[in-house]
Amino acid sequence: MDTIGLYRTTIGKKAVMAVTGAALLLFVIAHMIGNLAVFSGADAIDGYGRFLREINVVWPMRIGLLGCIALHFLAAYQLTAKARKARGKYEHRRRVQGSYAARTMRWGGVIIALFVVYHLLDLTVGWLNPHGVSGEIYANVVADFQHWYVVLAYTLAVVALGFHIRHGVWSATQTLGITTSRVIGLGVAVVICAGFLSVPFAVFTGLVS
Ligand code: HEM
Repeated sequence: MDTIGLYRTTIGKKAVMAVTGAALLLFVIAHMIGNLAVFSGADAIDGYGRFLREINVVWPMRIGLLGCIALHFLAAYQLTAKARKARGKYEHRRRVQGSYAARTMRWGGVIIALFVVYHLLDLTVGWLNPHGVSGEIYANVVADFQHWYVVLAYTLAVVALGFHIRHGVWSATQTLGITTSRVIGLGVAVVICAGFLSVPFAVFTGLVS
């Protein structure tokens, strides 16, 4: 079977979801760890941003992320459409197939996508940021999280991301036959949420200023 033929199958689409999901997860982990440089001061985080630009990883990373997001979304959409079509033949199975987890994943995905657009306008482009100067990452972050509504928006998005990752990691590790997959999913999600949220809360409480 060729690649396109494999993609047409349910297994092929699920494999694409898993591989692109894993790549996005790696970015999220790296980003979360990078953000912790805020605790080492302005020079550390601004210098880290400058370093990433100097070694020219920013544009390849953006293109890779966009490709992964597009494929992750396309496969999710097509899998949902396929399940819905199959369900048409067995009307009474609607409740079982439209499970809580599947609905949470779809809504979570939409919330994360909307957040990323807001986040880029806030901290990358700077239009929605009270400071909004490109390259002054520390000052932008500190200006942002003085406001409770910005902290709230980031908290809701990070928690939505946590639920999404918990389920995604659980499904993927379960497929690989790992018996502790639930614990792994929960553990990865909690560490990522705590790491991301430490920054807005440190600023809001005055620990970082
Ligand atoms: C409290 C949580 C977060 C903080 C403090 C934060 C901080 C930042 C900052 C400061 C930048 C701009 C860096 C620069 O100007 O060089 C950035 C970019 C970015 N962040 Fe976040 N981020 C957070 C959460 C997230 C989450 C949860 C995601 C994904 C779901 C995410 C995805 C991105 C992306 C895609 C970029 C753009 C990278 C680029 O193309 O330049 N961030 N973030």
